[in-house]
Amino acid sequence: MIFTLSSILGFLLPTFLGGNQLVAALAVKNEQLHPGAPPVVMSSRNVNDNPTSLLCGLFTTANKDSVKDLLNDLSGRSSSCDTPAKTCRRHACKNKSGVFVCNDTNQQISLNCKTTVAYYAQNSLDLCCTGGDTAVSGQQFSDGNFNVIVAAADCSTGEDTYRPSKGPSSDPWGPNGECVGP
Ligand SMILES: *[C@@H]1O[C@H](CO)[C@@H](O)[C@H](O)[C@H]1NC(C)=O
Ligand SMILES: *[C@@H]1O[C@H](CO)[C@@H](O)[C@H](O)[C@H]1NC(C)=O
Repeated sequence: MIFTLSSILGFLLPTFLGGNQLVAALAVKNEQLHPGAPPVVMSSRNVNDNPTSLLCGLFTTANKDSVKDLLNDLSGRSSSCDTPAKTCRRHACKNKSGVFVCNDTNQQISLNCKTTVAYYAQNSLDLCCTGGDTAVSGQQFSDGNFNVIVAAADCSTGEDTYRPSKGPSSDPWGPNGECVGP
């Protein structure tokens, strides 16, 4: 078999660039979390899902230990995480901590709970509020016009009734405490 330059480049370039809009830190993290996996974990059926910006500490916080459990929960699901148009839906909840998907599009989006929702939420857990051991909130955006939020949650309310936000100035962080650090 003959490997021409163009066939080699044709293989390598998509491997390196492959629709990949990951910032460098996310690419490194992706390799740590999914050794040997392609740089972009494509998982959803009907939307782009390359992670873009990550914002930390915008919302009342979740508890880090609880978020680890929520990520395990999401990672074990075989059903997809569906979120209606123009809605934020809480897909996992425990101990006043939640993982939400917010959908900016005009149609329902169906995301793989494990490879997209849990993966995105893991970025907040790993890279946000790193100066403290207990509290975290973060929002990972996607080029598919959705974002995944880790924040405080009231598990007794409906999945679509609450949009994550910052608390009042008297209690900005909520029941799980302050987001410390970047
Ligand atoms: C999708 O729905 C929300 C709620 O209406 C809307 O404000 C936003 O523009 C869209 N995305 C998010 C973040 O919810
Ligand atoms: C539940 O949340 C509280 C307050 O954030 C925290 O102290 C506790 O460790 C959490 N429990 C579990 C089981 O995650």
